[in-house]
Amino acid sequence: MRIAVLTGGGDAPGLNAAIRAVVRRALADNHEVVGVRNGWLGLLEGETVSLTRDSVSGTLPRGGTVLGTSRTNPFKVEDGPARMLQTLEQLGIHALIAIGGDDTLSVALKLHKMGVRVVGIPKTMDNDVPGTDYTIGFDTAVNVVMEACDRLHTTAEAHHRVMIIEVMGRDAGWVAGVGGLAGGADVILVPEVPFTLEEVCEVIRQRHARGRTFSIVVVAEGAKPSDFGVQITQDARVDEFGHVRLGGVGALLAREIEARTGHETRVTVLGHLQRGGSPTVFDRVLATRLGVAAVEAIEAGHFGVMVALRGTKIVTVSLEEALAGTSPLDLELYRLSRLFF
Ligand code: F6P
Repeated sequence: MRIAVLTGGGDAPGLNAAIRAVVRRALADNHEVVGVRNGWLGLLEGETVSLTRDSVSGTLPRGGTVLGTSRTNPFKVEDGPARMLQTLEQLGIHALIAIGGDDTLSVALKLHKMGVRVVGIPKTMDNDVPGTDYTIGFDTAVNVVMEACDRLHTTAEAHHRVMIIEVMGRDAGWVAGVGGLAGGADVILVPEVPFTLEEVCEVIRQRHARGRTFSIVVVAEGAKPSDFGVQITQDARVDEFGHVRLGGVGALLAREIEARTGHETRVTVLGHLQRGGSPTVFDRVLATRLGVAAVEAIEAGHFGVMVALRGTKIVTVSLEEALAGTSPLDLELYRLSRLFF
């Protein structure tokens, strides 16, 4: 068989580990692998590269994606679907592996409905894809958040300051919730749980009343202070999947906390640091298992599915299940983290 593979949407550490696993597992059964460059854009433009054992050698620890990625929505492009089908046909592709989050997988499902043999692999540092316990890139991202909390603790303590750490997480608070819990945050703010600026200030005042002289606040970029009722955006532009560019909730919190409590406050926006660098053990192993499982799903003739981690097992779930909304932060975990506020 000739199998195509692409990475779409925001990058996340572990993508190369997944591509490498696809290639190594496919070659083990003498299949050929074609890499599609820059996500769905490459399929529109016929930009592909043959992937060999050599081309994936040494890529396991590398962040980013050797194939490149984009946020292209091919269904927003004139003749997009037809152009993609033409590329697949011209290359004689038997099946396509799409590695991505909800946007990329939604295109995969549409293609599957048009008759393309598709298997999805869940990747996003947001960890918000339903049907899988974890997505590629999440573990590395929360390790970055944890380390940032550790580092900011020492400077916060030295200066008796409030430190706000703004992390990614548009609709789901997994990164803030898990990263903040591991980093010992004193306040964690996520899109799933409403809060007011006054409540946040009150937690900080109470900490100070107990004798603490500093506080660490982790806030997801998509967290909505009830005082405003909307997510804080950088500008009004939207991408091809309709997402606005979030950012600014950290700065807003810093201003309000300083004004209302009188405690000096600083903000750190972790941004794309959370998506860069070498994947953790967990992400390397998860990506490797999912890449292998995707080829095995193709060999077994299972299409329109996503390979997923459930408990300790790799399973397949339908792409419909994977696209049933957004998987929210486990609120039990959030309740637990509140114990430490
Ligand atoms: O989709 C993952 C994500 O990391 C979001 O949490 C974030 O809002 C977005 O990507 C930002 O991505 P970019 O700057 O690449 O558009």
